[in-house]
Amino acid sequence: MCGIVGYVGEQPALDVVLEGLRRLEYRGYDSAGVAVLDPSGGGALTVVRRAGKLANLEAALAGRDISGTLGIGHTRWATHGAPTDRNAHPHVDCTGAIAIVHNGTIENFAELREGLEMRGHELTSDTDTEAVAHLIEERYAGDLPAAVRSVCAELDGSFVLVVTHREQPDLVVGARRNLPLVVGIGDGENFLASDVTAFIAHTREARALDQDQVVELRRSGVRVTDLDGAEVEGETFHVDWDTAAAEKAGYDYFMLKEIQEQPAAVSETIGGRIGADGRLRLDELSISDEDVRGFEKVFIVACGSSYHSGLVGKYAIERWCRLSVEVEMGSEFRYRDPVLDRHTLVIAVSQSGETADTLEAVRHARQQRAWVMAITNTVGSSIARESDAVFYTRGGPEIAVASTKAVMTQLSAVYLVGLYLAQVRGTRDSDEVRSHFHDLATIPALITEVLSRMDGTRKLARDLSGEERVLFLGRHIGYPMALEGALKLKELAYVSAEGMPAGEIKHGPIALIDKGTPVVVLATRHALQPKLVTNIQEIRARGARTIVVATDGDESVTPYADHLIRLPDTKSLLSPMLTLVPLQVFAAEFAMARGLDVDQPRNLAKSVTVE
Ligand code: F6R
Repeated sequence: MCGIVGYVGEQPALDVVLEGLRRLEYRGYDSAGVAVLDPSGGGALTVVRRAGKLANLEAALAGRDISGTLGIGHTRWATHGAPTDRNAHPHVDCTGAIAIVHNGTIENFAELREGLEMRGHELTSDTDTEAVAHLIEERYAGDLPAAVRSVCAELDGSFVLVVTHREQPDLVVGARRNLPLVVGIGDGENFLASDVTAFIAHTREARALDQDQVVELRRSGVRVTDLDGAEVEGETFHVDWDTAAAEKAGYDYFMLKEIQEQPAAVSETIGGRIGADGRLRLDELSISDEDVRGFEKVFIVACGSSYHSGLVGKYAIERWCRLSVEVEMGSEFRYRDPVLDRHTLVIAVSQSGETADTLEAVRHARQQRAWVMAITNTVGSSIARESDAVFYTRGGPEIAVASTKAVMTQLSAVYLVGLYLAQVRGTRDSDEVRSHFHDLATIPALITEVLSRMDGTRKLARDLSGEERVLFLGRHIGYPMALEGALKLKELAYVSAEGMPAGEIKHGPIALIDKGTPVVVLATRHALQPKLVTNIQEIRARGARTIVVATDGDESVTPYADHLIRLPDTKSLLSPMLTLVPLQVFAAEFAMARGLDVDQPRNLAKSVTVE
């Protein structure tokens, strides 16, 4: 969590840093702050920080003349210490010469802090970060990178640190362990940030730092070392989307824009996957056919909405490949010591590629010699780099905290991976694989059609927006989407929402249903749909207000639906890609009708890099 920016160049640093923070605010919005170094006149290091959203910091900066072409900035998701002004970053040392921003948690900070206080340092915040500023103060003898390296070696936990020193007008130093830090390589200027969105307005050439590396950023160039100070080579990559992709483009919220971008995002993800020989190609995976044939078991690990995509993947892989699949939350996986070996495929699904629980699951799986494949949207992310193979969804940047188009592209990805495994293992012949792929290729147009029908769903969401509890029911392939619909509503509208398998409700949850309780039932055509019609009757008999999502032309549900949301027909296994859309629209509209900010729901941050 937390967004970090560093800049050195010729432009006014405050503008560059604030622009970067605006793009990173989705990572945390408990407080924000900047430090700008002006080398003229002996060097002034100005630090301004404010609790609350970035707008509070911008208001505090308004009218102030802060010049300088070197700066760092931070937008915070609070861990140690309440979200107050004094806990906001940057933090400074006793002399005020060093300013530092930090993402992560320093686990041995209490002991470090105690030592510092005994040695006479005065710490003024409750954060773990401030201790690092004072430690650098102790180690600094004119060589800032050396001081940072020496301090990093003593820190336990996860961190990205970006540091500036008043005596170093052409130097920003960054360091990383377990969390993302990307260098933006410009011409006469260079950038550091938690992700590339912060600097793509200036450069699209980037380099991701590896574990325990320290970067020295100067106007003239970038040098990366390990913690011993040895220079290390690394690869740069080109970001193939531009600033327009990270703008709201006339929408009130990123989330609304990202929902509309879904047809294009799916087209990008599935495009170019059929080779001249008519076979499905996922070249980037570079797994040998022999390895694929050797898999005896699959685990899918993920968190939150990505976990729901994984649940859909289970249905697809089991159906097409006849391989047993378990889907597990990243936060649970490694703690129960699952049975893994070289014949186990572990698929880690993560939009950000940085979710701490999923990353730890990847590490655990690799230690146990399992074969790890990442499905992620983020090039160069930790999960991508630490996996044996990567399937990149090509969804473009997702800025809204609630995941929409990323989930949609993850669904495309799990279907493609399922078909690919089936093709290589020979459990489906090539004609059948091609036919399923062609069905998948029709989905972008069908999503466009669903999007064009959403007025009724929006109105319904506004009408129901005073409700405090909504249930979501599904069966079979509809069940993961019931979970997703409930999660979206919880996180955006702060109402109690539960997703359940419809067949289970008579074992307890049906007691929740009272006169007028809104229940969304995902009843598109599939094998269990007739049983679902019975479930709808059961809840309606107990007073539920039924909102039924059904396939065009299916009249079996009509008598039992208080509200109908119609979707075009598609193959039942692919139906989650259509069902998802009204659930997203419903949750967003419901929350907006309650006056809530759907891009930045309370207490959340997009990239959950703490356990
Ligand atoms: C919900 C949401 C989260 C993420 C989860 C995993 O809308 O966005 O539940 O899906 O935090 O994040 P990634 O996919 O980045 O690992």
